Amino acid sequence: RAGWPGLIAAYADRVAVPPGARVVTLLEGGTPLVPAPELSRRTGADVYLKVEGANPTGSFKDRGMTVAVTHALAGGARAVICASTGNTSASAAAYAARAGLTSAVLVPQGKIASGKLAQAVAYGARILQVEGNFDDCLELARKTAADHDDVELVNSVNPVRIEGQKTAAFEVCDVLGRAPDVHLLPVGNAGNITAYWRGYREYRDSGVVGTTPRMFGFQAAGAAPLVLGRPVPDPETVATAIRIGSPASWHGAITARDDSGGLIDAVTDDQILEAYRLVASREGVFVEPASAASVAGLLQTAADGRLPRGATVVCTVTGTGLKDPTTALTAMTEPVVVPVSAEAVAGALGLG
Ligand code: F0G
Repeated sequence: RAGWPGLIAAYADRVAVPPGARVVTLLEGGTPLVPAPELSRRTGADVYLKVEGANPTGSFKDRGMTVAVTHALAGGARAVICASTGNTSASAAAYAARAGLTSAVLVPQGKIASGKLAQAVAYGARILQVEGNFDDCLELARKTAADHDDVELVNSVNPVRIEGQKTAAFEVCDVLGRAPDVHLLPVGNAGNITAYWRGYREYRDSGVVGTTPRMFGFQAAGAAPLVLGRPVPDPETVATAIRIGSPASWHGAITARDDSGGLIDAVTDDQILEAYRLVASREGVFVEPASAASVAGLLQTAADGRLPRGATVVCTVTGTGLKDPTTALTAMTEPVVVPVSAEAVAGALGLG
């Protein structure tokens, strides 16, 4: 990563910004593709984790936000607005701060992880907790942006967000020297699976790689409109980031699934939490619950035979575990208290 210039500069020939625009960047992208030996052992595949928690605000949203806020600033916006389950709001607030713009974020009241709310506060966003769910927030954000010329919507319905996010697929191919056989992702509003599929197709169409991966998307069972084939009015899941009942990029997700020969399936909250603990405790990669949906999907499809053995597989883990300390600490037993004594430490650790 030393010398990494941020994704707009790294992929200047593939990510368009307005001519002469001041690029608003926190040097996002260039995230690690970490081999996952324990997941490989358990699945019989060659598994890598694309660790998007390594981005400046701790999630993949920064990829889209550098492009969206660069466009907003160049276009003369005074403020940016978004609806969010938390990560988009943290990212929008950070890039707006960097650009000298106001940010307004609409989040579902009481349903966003504490780390994400803390970020929006720190970056100085105007935070509105809406008495509704994400889908209600998105409708309000769209309407507000439509009614006010100088307020730019930076949700992934803004097409330049997808342009930034597609670079993650480029990075995977650049590191592997080829496209993976299967790419697994959590799916909420469905912007990211749309973006990865665009990136993989672009690299294949311009001959950088010879193939595209099959795209496997996973929703939480309580918030799985794409699996059910209809919107879910009251989505519910421990993975609050993907607690979405009516994905804006519905069509993009279905296209990615069908054109890649992939699938979109649901994983239960129990599966998500099991994967969440496994990837932290066995791979040393602490991710937020929504991110673990891709790992839960990996384990599920390996177990039922849909994941080809021996395949080269990439799982995007979309956000850092520090976003949601509450979920991490929920199952925790009280840490042992010891006096300032080496004997007590050794005793408490069972070292005799
Ligand atoms: N993982 C995390 C950590 C997310 O924050 C999100 C979406 C997703 C996965 C799903 O990505 O929506 O492109 O399908 N978070 C949005 C937000 C909705 O407001 O932060 P998607």
